[in-house]
Amino acid sequence: MSNVLCVYYSRTGNTRQTMTEIAEALGADVLEIRDEVERGGIFGWLRCGLDAVSRTVPPIMPIETEKPLSEYRLVILGTPVWASRCSGVMRSFLKRYGRKLHNVAYVLVRGSEDKNEEIYDQMDVYVPNGHCAAATLRRGSVGYVFWQEEFLRQVREQLK
Ligand SMILES: Cc1cc2nc3c(=O)[nH]c(=O)nc-3n(C[C@H](O)[C@H](O)[C@H](O)COP(=O)(O)O)c2cc1C
Repeated sequence: MSNVLCVYYSRTGNTRQTMTEIAEALGADVLEIRDEVERGGIFGWLRCGLDAVSRTVPPIMPIETEKPLSEYRLVILGTPVWASRCSGVMRSFLKRYGRKLHNVAYVLVRGSEDKNEEIYDQMDVYVPNGHCAAATLRRGSVGYVFWQEEFLRQVREQLK
């Protein structure tokens, strides 16, 4: 059992890979969140975009963690970027559990050059104290390892 929890949603595996790397580097507990919406194929893609733009909060599957969310010293939330917003599934998690998260950090996994850093403020609305660290990463990009290391440095500093 760790004092850090990595929570993520991933539709096509990028955020899962990134959050697995981060969790391994920190020895963190891991929670993958899921919903029951079919998000495959072009219709699934469109549904994701619509959910993000309309700020829909799809019901998510029940979650199970090693200890209560409020007892983690740090919760790192990982989400793909959808239409310049966090994924609808992460929004559902935040809306339901955000108030229990006293210390959070964000990892955005994106597909374009645009860093979409405005999403940090959008996510802060759901948590009591805002975020203490954040990163926006694009898998395969030149700066990926550098910015991931920089994020880990910020987090380790927080946990000192
Ligand atoms: C509906 C939809 C909208 C997206 N919009 C953006 C966007 O606005 N900016 C961006 O950089 N990437 C965007 N992406 C790309 C994803 O953020 C990117 O492919 C990410 O790595 C997916 O993570 P995953 O594999 O964990 O699902 C979008 C993807 C989807 C499905």
